[in-house]
Amino acid sequence: MAVATRSSTFGSVLLSGLAISCAFTAAAQERIVKIGAVLPLTGPQQSNGIQIAAGISRYVAQHGDTVAGKKVQVIAKDDGAVADNSKRLAQEMVVNDKVNFLVGFGITPTAFAVSPLASQAKIPQIVMGAETSSITERSPYVVRTSGTLAQKSVIMAEWALKNGIKKVVSIVSDYAPGIDAETFFKETFVRGGGQIPEFIRTPLANPDFAPFLQRARDARPDAVFVFQPAGDNASFIHQYLERGLDKAGIRIIGAGDIVDDDLLYSAGDQVIGAVTADFYSAYHQSVMNKEYSAAMRKANNINQPNIMSVGGYDGMHLIYEALKKTNGVTGGDVLVPAMKSMSWESPRGPVSIDPETRDIIQNIYMRKVEKVDGKLYNVEFETFNG
Ligand code: DHB
Repeated sequence: MAVATRSSTFGSVLLSGLAISCAFTAAAQERIVKIGAVLPLTGPQQSNGIQIAAGISRYVAQHGDTVAGKKVQVIAKDDGAVADNSKRLAQEMVVNDKVNFLVGFGITPTAFAVSPLASQAKIPQIVMGAETSSITERSPYVVRTSGTLAQKSVIMAEWALKNGIKKVVSIVSDYAPGIDAETFFKETFVRGGGQIPEFIRTPLANPDFAPFLQRARDARPDAVFVFQPAGDNASFIHQYLERGLDKAGIRIIGAGDIVDDDLLYSAGDQVIGAVTADFYSAYHQSVMNKEYSAAMRKANNINQPNIMSVGGYDGMHLIYEALKKTNGVTGGDVLVPAMKSMSWESPRGPVSIDPETRDIIQNIYMRKVEKVDGKLYNVEFETFNG
């Protein structure tokens, strides 16, 4: 399939382009900062890995591969989104490659698997993709540049309540970020007087959405609230249409992952009108993002940059700026304090690192799928300040 070709092409570009593995002398080693990226470059979550890698590459291309007098070396390893692989690869990179940072993590279980190692090795773990709230609690060395389902789901619930949506069926992927999405949406929506007659959880691997969507349809809600991991969501949208939920007047609302920018084109025009909450859109109207989006489309083998890409890009910014602050000194005990409270402009808008939680503080945007210049985009129409 098209995505597989894309991934292997890009994966190998990243590996050969940035990962230089030769023997360095001790002195040379000291002048190098090594970043070990653990990413799903193959398998069902490969889109997340490709996007994060693209964001990392873009940052290095734009800002150079030297910071605070040190050469930056990125070593990328493919975990296929399997947590045991992530742990093993991270361990190898800490022990053999002596990496100074562990970064990436396309899905939550892979971030969870590596955090004990970050604590043990006392090196920063920069979570660029995974979005379960509790990840930052797993180690004091975790700092996140993606976002959380909690941030998006609360805003989505508030918007739904204000916009005449009274009855919703929740359909989430049955693993940690899905449970977060369900829990946070429910808390706000029900407290505000909304009804949720059905809570549906779908398997993460190879979900067949048809029976779940039939159940949702039978409950006659105003909308389905959806969280499915970013990546190939076309099958959800197609089955939603096949089951006639659109014709029954049941809207799609949710975390923006269901209308992921990169693969939105494959959902087709019938997805126009879907309203979601998220922290980044390829169509975000800022000078910085126009440049970022254009460069990403040109420089990498992707359609549109998505939330994952910007997590990778901003994660590199965090690393570069922290190294500048420490004059190139590494180690989590100096770098993590340097990262706390850092604020900057991202292609997604203004962001900062919460000094207490080490999580990212950011705007959440309400967006609607629209066609602009012949292409589908998530067009932002309201901003909730983080
Ligand atoms: C996670 C994975 C995704 O693909 C996504 O869009 C959001 C969260 C996760 O596993 O945390």
